[in-house]
Amino acid sequence: MSNQDWLHRSFSAVWHPCTQMKRHEALPIVPIASADGVWLTDFDGKRYLDGVSSWWVSLFGHGHPRIKQAIRTQLDQLEHVMLAGFTHQPVVELSERLSRLSGLGHAFYGSDGASATEIALKMSFHYWQNRGQSDKRRFVSLANSYHGETVGALAVTDVPLFSATYAELLKPGLRAPSPDARLAPPGVDAREQALAAARSLENVLAKHHAEIAAVIVEPLLQGAAGMAMYDPVYLTELRRLCDRYQVHLIADEIAVGFGRTGSFFAYQQAGIVPDFLCLSKGITGGFLPLSCVLTRDEVYQAFYHNDVARGFLHSHSYTGNALACAAALAVLDIFEEDNVLEANRQKALSFDALMQPLRRREDVRHFRHLGMVWAFDVDTPRPEFALAFFSSMLKRGYLLRPIGKTVYFMPPYVIREDEMAGMIHAAIDALDELAADGIPAGECEAALP
Ligand SMILES: Cc1ncc(COP(=O)(O)O)c(C=O)c1O
Repeated sequence: MSNQDWLHRSFSAVWHPCTQMKRHEALPIVPIASADGVWLTDFDGKRYLDGVSSWWVSLFGHGHPRIKQAIRTQLDQLEHVMLAGFTHQPVVELSERLSRLSGLGHAFYGSDGASATEIALKMSFHYWQNRGQSDKRRFVSLANSYHGETVGALAVTDVPLFSATYAELLKPGLRAPSPDARLAPPGVDAREQALAAARSLENVLAKHHAEIAAVIVEPLLQGAAGMAMYDPVYLTELRRLCDRYQVHLIADEIAVGFGRTGSFFAYQQAGIVPDFLCLSKGITGGFLPLSCVLTRDEVYQAFYHNDVARGFLHSHSYTGNALACAAALAVLDIFEEDNVLEANRQKALSFDALMQPLRRREDVRHFRHLGMVWAFDVDTPRPEFALAFFSSMLKRGYLLRPIGKTVYFMPPYVIREDEMAGMIHAAIDALDELAADGIPAGECEAALP
């Protein structure tokens, strides 16, 4: 079967995520036959370098042999057992290891990132109920935040393209300004910008803390809203303010956990520990869906009671799936055995040097870098830039999916220097082609979400 066959069948049978399906009349879906390392291969044998780690999940590339082997070994032992009333070795070991790494504990599992957000919001809300402070039921999130697409998560997400349609379903929350360093006025550095945003947050907390359960943030990097990076001092201030105003701090590290920002967890760069930590995406290296929420002992104790209803009666059928936990344990082994954080630091230095020609371009604004993420905004009049750039890169054999006019690289950690160099050259060629209007504008009408 060729690409053509699969894309037709997919177009008729599958409703693809985050997509206006009619777009695919003009922009073909890419059927992938196999993948290895950073490369995806379609049914006609064309290869694409996965420059966004398949929506940020494939930490060590596709088909990593140690993760595959861990799943195979687990498959012969136990594929799954319900976690209510039962337990198993991988879930216990994973919970212990995540606890040692995070300084939190009592791991509660879900499947996708959004389910972790829901769990953290519900736990925080329920904690205050159990403590007799039932007025604390609102959440603060940041401008340009993204925490997932389910109804609770969407209420704390500030991307109107995704949330506006469902506004009537969403419980209104409070919004504080983003510490995004790009928003700093001339002469103001990233740190001062973060401190100014923290002062605005303090105004919100000072006024409403009696009714606020938690503040939820994406530590250091607001990903889905355009790879906005900010100074760690914001998190240090946030921790101080949450303590001062008796409000929980939820760190949504679904996108940034597992080394993406340079430290194992992003919040560690601010020397703080949150009250809740949400993890997903890279947790299984992109092999199986798994998410997890860790919290402080004091939160757990507030649920520990003779009264059943004071317990956290939330569940998902696949909670703590044994295969997914085995994959996650293999991911943690790879971090330890391969000294991944240090290896990434070295790689990032050489990748930074490769980025110089991009950085110097006249149409590139706010070039930024954090850990294993590089991003920049493109000064282009084309409203359909994202889709045009995406198509142009696909043609060249690279998967990069800009967010609006922000282009970013979030490659699997295993990417080699020559592969990164190839991707950067291709991006430069695509920018040149688009600047010269090399792609008919009619092909793609609007921004790619
Ligand atoms: C910070 C953050 N939180 C939550 C989510 C939602 O995760 P999922 O798509 O697995 O539901 C995402 C997804 O991009 C994310 O980046």
